Amino acid sequence: MKFFVDTAEIDAIAELNDLGMVDGVTTNPSLILKSGRDIMEVTREICEMVSGPVSAEVVATEADQMIAEGRKLAKIAPNIAVKVPLTWDGLKACKVLSGEGNMVNVTLCFSANQALLAAKAGATFISPFIGRLDDINLDGMELISDIRQIYDNYGYETQILAASIRTVNHAYQSAMIGADVMTAPPAVIKSMAKHVLTDKGLDAFLADWAKTGQNIL
Ligand code: G3P
Repeated sequence: MKFFVDTAEIDAIAELNDLGMVDGVTTNPSLILKSGRDIMEVTREICEMVSGPVSAEVVATEADQMIAEGRKLAKIAPNIAVKVPLTWDGLKACKVLSGEGNMVNVTLCFSANQALLAAKAGATFISPFIGRLDDINLDGMELISDIRQIYDNYGYETQILAASIRTVNHAYQSAMIGADVMTAPPAVIKSMAKHVLTDKGLDAFLADWAKTGQNIL
């Protein structure tokens, strides 16, 4: 499973990248706002650090403008994936931008039918938002599973990018279902290392070690 980091915070990306945990990065207008950085500048910095796809999102709502914005974002670096929303205009922009050889990430996907349309429009990635479905008492994981089955039924190559991941359980379940990629905030990725029995076991080992009176160094 590929790990994308869902942030525009350079330091957080660098820490995970040094560990080989970063196969790509996703950003969106809210994450750019949170970073307090200029979109072109911060996206360029991320692209220099990370060799995998870096999603940068258009903000126009009409296809021609989305295409113009997408072309500008794609010029930042060869590893840009242009992110467009899953609207009819977004699908038009996806078709044109992917036809020009750009990676396209179709975002804000909340149904299997939307995912099917994105695949037909040539999306490189489809981003179903798990946490936001859970927020309204629907089942985000069921959507990942449905899209996996539909894409496999017909051999679509669009990669399922499980997004809006809020918990380690979302990450685990996405991997079990076979999402190609997950994008998660740095804190969720780091939490995947935690287990209460690991902490408890380590405490016991260290307590016994202290009793031996030995040192390794
Ligand atoms: O990957 C999409 C993500 O940024 C949205 O997450 O937690 O705002 O629903 P969230």
